Amino acid sequence: MKQALLSYSLLASGAYAFPWVASQPGVDSSLFAARKAFKRQQTPEGAGDAAHCPFNANHIPAAPVTSKYPYNNAKNGVPGQGKGGFQVPATGDTAHQFVAPGPNDVRGPCPGLNAAANHNFLAHDGITTFNELVDAQQNIYNVGYDLAVLLAILGLTLADGDIVTEKLSIGCDATTRTSFSPTLTGSEPGLDGHNKFEADSSLTRNDFFTHGGDNFRFNGTLFGKMDKTCQSNFNREHLSVYRNQRWHESQIENPNFFFGPLTLLLYGAASFLYELMPSGTHGYAPDLETISSFFGAVKQSDGTWGFTAEKIPDNWTNRVSPYTNNDVTLEIVSMYLENPVLFGGNTADGSFDALNFGAIKNGTISASISPKDTSCLLYQLATGQVMPSSLNGVITPTVDALTFALTKLGLTDLKNLGCPIPLTK
Ligand code: HEM
Ligand SMILES: *[C@@H]1O[C@H](CO)[C@@H](O)[C@H](O)[C@H]1NC(C)=O
Ligand SMILES: *[C@@H]1O[C@H](CO)[C@@H](O)[C@H](O)[C@H]1NC(C)=O
Ligand SMILES: *[C@@H]1O[C@H](CO)[C@@H](O)[C@H](O)[C@H]1NC(C)=O
Repeated sequence: MKQALLSYSLLASGAYAFPWVASQPGVDSSLFAARKAFKRQQTPEGAGDAAHCPFNANHIPAAPVTSKYPYNNAKNGVPGQGKGGFQVPATGDTAHQFVAPGPNDVRGPCPGLNAAANHNFLAHDGITTFNELVDAQQNIYNVGYDLAVLLAILGLTLADGDIVTEKLSIGCDATTRTSFSPTLTGSEPGLDGHNKFEADSSLTRNDFFTHGGDNFRFNGTLFGKMDKTCQSNFNREHLSVYRNQRWHESQIENPNFFFGPLTLLLYGAASFLYELMPSGTHGYAPDLETISSFFGAVKQSDGTWGFTAEKIPDNWTNRVSPYTNNDVTLEIVSMYLENPVLFGGNTADGSFDALNFGAIKNGTISASISPKDTSCLLYQLATGQVMPSSLNGVITPTVDALTFALTKLGLTDLKNLGCPIPLTK
């Protein structure tokens, strides 16, 4: 095991010499070999960097659920009841009412987590933990425990958080507060970190390199486009068209466009609009009123969209059955296959290179993808197919990152899928 991990580490350190993507395990680097190095990862400077990151000296952890207002009774990172259909926040639960973020609070590219922090289901300053993330997803949205753990692992290990303190910034680089040792870990860019969890062609966020590193703020122009394409009905069929549209926009506008394996997560996030956000009080319809509240979008008198803050809609009731890893991977593949695009990236000579990764062959996912390969898609992302941020500094945390992921995954049934686990023998 030691040897396999060491060679992985060496591969990853090659990222300094080669285009970032070519050195990713699972990516066929021969496809990129002849290419000029192109920026895939962010430079440390930009709108979401440490210098621009607010500091709230008064860190208050998330308000825990209580016996009076138990929600799914998810606490301390363990499975809750997994029975939804209840109102969030509960009437009378003052601890979880909406409080707009202040200037010292960190918010980022994820409307779901921003809303959770605005309602104190995550720490209001935006510096959260693995357990808060796992609990909040279950208590608010009735995300299944397996998926809640998987997403929290992805947030923490994809270069964005710290696997020792288990802390994560839901936005900008707050290394001084997340890292167990900034000199050892290097910078931990938080969820704003580019080409990690955050990626190009988002629904309502700019691409990193076309907008001076602002890949995390709500963009009303993009929200308006999404609303138009979706005809105010944010279902799978319409979001599939919009995801395809965003791919083409990025491919034309962004010379550094990269649509890698992790962009599978963007399809997952898009499914959250019609799977996690709809309210029982609206017949679980993914309608504009609901979606605009979660995105913090406000229509102006001239018809354009402005931003307020992400808020759980009034009288909102969550989905009844848990949204599981299996559910989301099926949505990812279905949404992709309705309007497929190529996985890969723009290159210096103006062409687009396709890549290989697991079930992605020559840049596409086949319609005949097996159920097993489908279930393993996200699992593979979470088990070391991508470079942990800890590699910015030393090698040892790499081992720890994989161990961390496997230990946390071991809490769920995901370990029984029989998916290939790279790097361990
Ligand atoms: C630990 C759990 C989670 C993490 C670490 C996470 C992280 C992220 C990140 C990094 C992005 C940016 C991706 C991109 O567009 O480049 C994102 C987008 C998104 N997330 Fe989350 N997320 C989590 C859970 C949730 C939940 C529970 C919801 C449900 C409401 C949600 C809703 C969304 C949506 C709708 C987007 C797309 C935003 C857009 O493209 O404009 N997320 N998330
Ligand atoms: C919002 O998105 C549009 C369309 O991509 C872009 O032209 C504009 O510069 C963005 N605005 C901001 C403030 O980033
Ligand atoms: C929420 O429910 C209350 C009580 O039933 C009602 O008075 C109020 O109008 C509702 N608000 C919305 C936005 O549906
Ligand atoms: C991918 O492309 C290569 C080169 O064009 C070809 O040899 C191979 O058969 C293709 N693989 C698949 C799965 O289509």
